[in-house]
Amino acid sequence: MFYNCDCIDGAKKHLKDNSVDLIITDPPYGISGEKLHKHYNRNEAGVIGGYVEVSEIDYPEFSRKWIVQAERVLKPGGSIYIVSGYTQLRHILNSLADTNLIEKNHIIWKFNFGVFTSKKYVSSHYHILYYVKPGSAHTFNTNAFFADSEKDESGGSLNYKDREDVWIINREFKPGEVKNKNELPKTMLTKMILYSSQPDDLVCDFFLGSFSTAKAAIGLGRNACGFELNKMAFLHQQKEIQSISKGYMLNSLRPVPTNIMTNRGKTITDEEAESIQRDYKILTDIGTTKKAAIVNLTVKYGRGYWSLLRIIDGTTNKSKGN
Ligand SMILES: C[S@@+](CC[C@H](N)C(=O)[O-])C[C@H]1O[C@@H](n2cnc3c(N)ncnc32)[C@H](O)[C@@H]1O
Repeated sequence: MFYNCDCIDGAKKHLKDNSVDLIITDPPYGISGEKLHKHYNRNEAGVIGGYVEVSEIDYPEFSRKWIVQAERVLKPGGSIYIVSGYTQLRHILNSLADTNLIEKNHIIWKFNFGVFTSKKYVSSHYHILYYVKPGSAHTFNTNAFFADSEKDESGGSLNYKDREDVWIINREFKPGEVKNKNELPKTMLTKMILYSSQPDDLVCDFFLGSFSTAKAAIGLGRNACGFELNKMAFLHQQKEIQSISKGYMLNSLRPVPTNIMTNRGKTITDEEAESIQRDYKILTDIGTTKKAAIVNLTVKYGRGYWSLLRIIDGTTNKSKGN
């Protein structure tokens, strides 16, 4: 359910204790309207009016109040991602520190919307505070996007790379479309939702704006709820969200190979070792680097990188492969 009201009152009225699996939210930045426009340095045509800001003076108390509600409604083991600029970050961090929520990561979101500055560096990142509520194991689907065994061309783990705490994700340009002042990119929302929730979980956004969180959650087969004070945005987006069919984005996700290391731990026969060496020679003869050739062979032989390296270097005892 979506509510056109203040999120603090709305949460008190509509959301029970321990009822939400995941909160992803992007509170107003506490930058006054005109400055916010300059901050993004872009043409505002198509942006829905009526964005509700919070004054700098009210920001600490406002943050404290909505974060207390967020903590209350999260299930034990539930997660919260708060996207914040730098200006009011300290108030959000202070409010979080007053709760029992546990910090998991402080993520830096680097994006391509360089704000206008002169005589100083260009600011091009936001902060994402990822916390969990104690009391139960939190959902973190480590292999949501990549299997442990998947490597890039230089042998680096794709899974590790995807889980680093600096995210380079561009904002979406939507020329000609009706949009919210600062819409979160779908790629980023997909990342948070797939790592931190299960199908049919309830995902809540305290500051819906364009309903981007809710749209991604429903598209990924979750349920969604939230609040937005701006009536104009609320009415427009509430109508739009009705046309989104639950789970429609799932088909476009790359299937993650499950356990491609099927032969890990099994004895390596002389025959298999010879075959590996033959394939390795073919690949390197056509110019493939040693690392890339081994990465390639992990898939064919269902064995780990180091095991193959030992066979290729002739240093294995061939009794067991990893
Ligand atoms: C930074 S925007 C959210 C953008 C959103 N994540 C998106 O992708 O479109 C913050 C939103 O919170 C709304 N807002 C401000 N104060 C609010 C309050 N007390 N309760 C609910 N919504 C509020 C603003 O109107 C604005 O749409």
